Parts: sequence; structure tokens; C-alpha cells
Amino acid sequence: ATAGVTCVPFSGGQPKGGVDDGPVEMVRFGILDQLQGMGYAVELSAGMDKYKTMKPAQDPPIGVLKNPRYVAMAARRVSEQVREHCEAGRMAVTLGGDHSIAMGTLVGSTAVYGDDLCVVWVDAHADINTPSTTTSGNLHGCPLAYILGLCQASTPSDPFAWVPRGCVRKDRLVYIGLRDVDPAEKLILRQHGIKAFSMHDVDKHGIGRVVEMALDHVNRDRSLPVHMSFDVDALDPSVAPATGTPVRGGLTFREGHYICEAVAETGCLVALDLVEVNPALGDPESLRQTVAVGCSLVRCSLGERLL
Ligand code: ARG
Ligand code: MN
Ligand code: MN
Ligand code: MN
Repeated sequence: ATAGVTCVPFSGGQPKGGVDDGPVEMVRFGILDQLQGMGYAVELSAGMDKYKTMKPAQDPPIGVLKNPRYVAMAARRVSEQVREHCEAGRMAVTLGGDHSIAMGTLVGSTAVYGDDLCVVWVDAHADINTPSTTTSGNLHGCPLAYILGLCQASTPSDPFAWVPRGCVRKDRLVYIGLRDVDPAEKLILRQHGIKAFSMHDVDKHGIGRVVEMALDHVNRDRSLPVHMSFDVDALDPSVAPATGTPVRGGLTFREGHYICEAVAETGCLVALDLVEVNPALGDPESLRQTVAVGCSLVRCSLGERLL
């Protein structure tokens, strides 16, 4: 099998620098060699340095949205790289970067798999704010609103006009790990009947049952392709401290890994995002720990087993 890896050193979807160094740190930690050691051929998307240089000279806010053109350009490029990997039948692995890049990864995977594609979104946050509900204006809190078609292109010059609104079906999205959801996002989830398993559900049922229920919701027969978007802040800050928006009360080390192992076992995974590793936050040990856990989640998702 071949892993099509796209490194996205991008931080424009939120204000903290450093998350753009996530991919290079995971590569330095050896993720590519580790995947090869597991038997994967690795095909690395070219030109990862371009993400840093594509920042437009003029990018004033649109409404409250920050860096809208930069985010849109980067995500569009990601979508092309992920689409190429999927077209070639590779497992598309995208290393972020902040979570706004998932707008690109999902446009890329759905371009190939269509609306059969199921999305397992593992995160402390719902990332489903629309341009009208976001209070931060940070686009890493918004990718799913665009993808599900909860916001339409405002004007013909909307930098996100290229995003095929509704490329993921609302009943094919499921969340695991939520615990910091904005009031407007709670309304959106309720209004659209979007399935979510919060940390309360993990406590109540255990992670084994939660993953089973989540997969039953989107993919009862385990026959449809799955795209997992894993925000490292889904993990408890004691496990993954080096991230921009940590929230206490998160997944344990084993719960996070269990999700990846169980999704890998279905054989349905076609795309994986691992995002929001920010090596600039915290001491060297927090950084090492977070990069290591990020790499280990990627390996487990791609089938590394304990026995
Ligand atoms: N809900 C908040 C916002 O929209 C936080 C989003 C955090 N997202 C993330 N990918 N870490 O600003
Ligand atoms: Mn998050
Ligand atoms: Mn539903
Ligand atoms: Mn996120």
C-alpha cells in the first residue's frame, strides 16, 4: 500500500505562530520512516514550503474572518494534493497545520469518493462556526460549516467560492471528544441533527462503545470510505500539551489510540488528517510528547498493532 503524505505548514486559520512547524517536527521525529517500516511506500506531496510563501500581500478581514484569502488559497492547494493521492488510490495522510486545512482535505477526498465519504471528526471543538456565528473570526473553527454547506458564498468574490458546499452529507459526519462547543455551534448541531459523542458519552459508555456507535451512525455496514480528521487537542492537555486551544477533560492516551486502532480495523479509512500540533507552545518536553503522540496516532490509524 502507498501512503500519500501532504505536509501543510500553515497557521493562518488561527492567531498563534508555531503550528506551521507541526509537520516538519513530525517528519523530524521520523513519521515517514515509521510508515515505511510498517510496509507503506511513501509518496510525499511536493512544494510544502510554498504554503509559507503564498500569503497574499493584502488580506484584510472579511466581516470578522481573519486571513480569509490566505486560508482559502492554502486549503485549495491542499484539496488538489489530497485529491491526487486519493485518485491514485493512496491513503491520504495530511499533517497540519491548523484545522482550517481540513476544508481542503475534505474537498480533496470527496472529489474522489463523492458523498459516500464518511467523516469521523475527533476534536475538543466542533469547528462548525459559520462566518456569521464565529466570535473569534479564526477559520480553524469554521471548516465544517463550509463543507456541509451551512454558509453560502456571500459574493462572487468570496475566496471560498471554490468549496463545493455540501460535499459531505450531514448524516455522514460524526464527532468524538467534544467538550468546548460554542453556544451557536450547539444550536447548529441540534438544528441539523448532527451526531456527536462528547466526553460525557466517553465517560458514560467507554471509548469502545462510543467508537462502535459512531461508526454505526455513519457507516453501519462498514462498507463506505472513511476520512478521519484528528485534532490533537481532542487528547487531554496532559497527553498533548503543545496545541493552541487546549481544553482540560480530554481523551486519555489510550482512548485516542483506541479510536485510531478501531477505525484502522474497519479497513475503510481512505484519508487521515493530524492537525494542531504546535511545537512552539510549552517546554521542550511538552513539545516532544505532543509530536510523539501525533506520530503514534498516525501509525495506529494506518494499522500499527500492539500485538
Ligand atoms: N470554537 C472556537 C472558535 O471558533 C475554537 C475553535 C478551535 N478550533 C480548533 N481547530 N482548535 O474560535
Ligand atoms: Mn480542537
Ligand atoms: Mn444523524
Ligand atoms: Mn479542530
